[in-house]
Amino acid sequence: MKSKLKILNVVGARPNFMKIAPIAEAIEAHNQANRDHGIESLIVHTGQHYDEQMSKLFFEDLDIPRPDYNLGVGSGSHAYQTAEIMKRFEPVLEKERPDYILVVGDVNSTIACALVAKKLGVKVIHVEAGLRSFDMSMPEEINRILTDAISDLLFITEKSGETNLLKEGVTREKIHFVGNVMIDTLLRHKEKAECSEILVRVGLAEKGDLSIQPYAVLTLHRPSNVDDPMNLENIMKAVTEISRHLPVVFPVHPRTKKQMVGLNIGIADTIKLVDPLGYLDFLKLMSHARMVLTDSGGIQEETTVLGVPCITLRENTERPVTVEQGTNVIVGMERKNIVDQSLKVLNGNSKEGRLPELWDGKAAERIVEVLAGESPRL
Ligand code: UD1
Repeated sequence: MKSKLKILNVVGARPNFMKIAPIAEAIEAHNQANRDHGIESLIVHTGQHYDEQMSKLFFEDLDIPRPDYNLGVGSGSHAYQTAEIMKRFEPVLEKERPDYILVVGDVNSTIACALVAKKLGVKVIHVEAGLRSFDMSMPEEINRILTDAISDLLFITEKSGETNLLKEGVTREKIHFVGNVMIDTLLRHKEKAECSEILVRVGLAEKGDLSIQPYAVLTLHRPSNVDDPMNLENIMKAVTEISRHLPVVFPVHPRTKKQMVGLNIGIADTIKLVDPLGYLDFLKLMSHARMVLTDSGGIQEETTVLGVPCITLRENTERPVTVEQGTNVIVGMERKNIVDQSLKVLNGNSKEGRLPELWDGKAAERIVEVLAGESPRL
């Protein structure tokens, strides 16, 4: 009889949780349907993000199984965090000896665990492979390139991923275009998110009243934006101007909060600061927004699917399909560009956008189909 394929799934930071949720669910569904040759699957949480709002809420909102291991690594410099994850992950891997580890996205936990696995002879699966901003000042770009270089199975969300990987010498057989697991999660939870009371809590709707006041959403956490006082001040000046036209709801990432307090940045009454939100609250907030201003990667994709205009406060994107086919516009960090582009949207001149190929809620199923065809080590 064929022995079971064993996979150890790694999560660490907020954007990982919504990517692992549908994969865990698809593995469970596969196991229900294939009782004698299922996939044994464990979850390791590195603890890169640890606050209730940055981690626990997501496990609850998305029904992610409790991690089998929590490495409790916490914050620190990149070297400290990456090294600490590696040190704490190695004994887990030696004990569990899976056939594969599965990592998602581009955070420090992704590269740290991939590196440990590869050196112990455990194969690496990278979900959301091949994305490139071509900007090596982004820590995530370094994590992406390195992880892809040592991965054995690479699952891509958009066609640009294949072009990038082939150019870097990854062989075609390792690459699978499956769609976007983050969008699987969005489509599964969109209806449930409508029950969130977030709009009432921030004063943009009355309880039980269907009318919602127009508003914009802002998220900001990229080091190049928030650790550089000039950029942060420019962006906040632009947002203050925009907030004269409509209120801006701003869930503040811990990194950004620290900087804003340190720089004593004044906030207009028309900008509503809130703590980081759980998945369902944030999805509801995005879904009803007139536009979203962000420097996040995932939000560029989510707004494309929701059909909400996205103004990206960066010089580049690793997710070009959101610009070519979606609602995303890259505006950089200059005050005037941000304001001009936002006013254009408010005046009704936004991009229509369409759904990118295979962003249909079935990416995790496709991944598990590929994995089920892999043989375990005998
Ligand atoms: C990380 C990812 C980034 C991702 C982002 C999403 C890397 C290199 N970066 O950036 O790609 O978009 O997560 O949020 O992995 N902090 C808390 N509580 C927490 C977590 C962090 O207070 O639960 C504070 C700490 O002071 C920490 C700072 O936020 O120093 C930054 O956290 P860190 O995990 O280093 O990077 P992020 O900016 O969150």
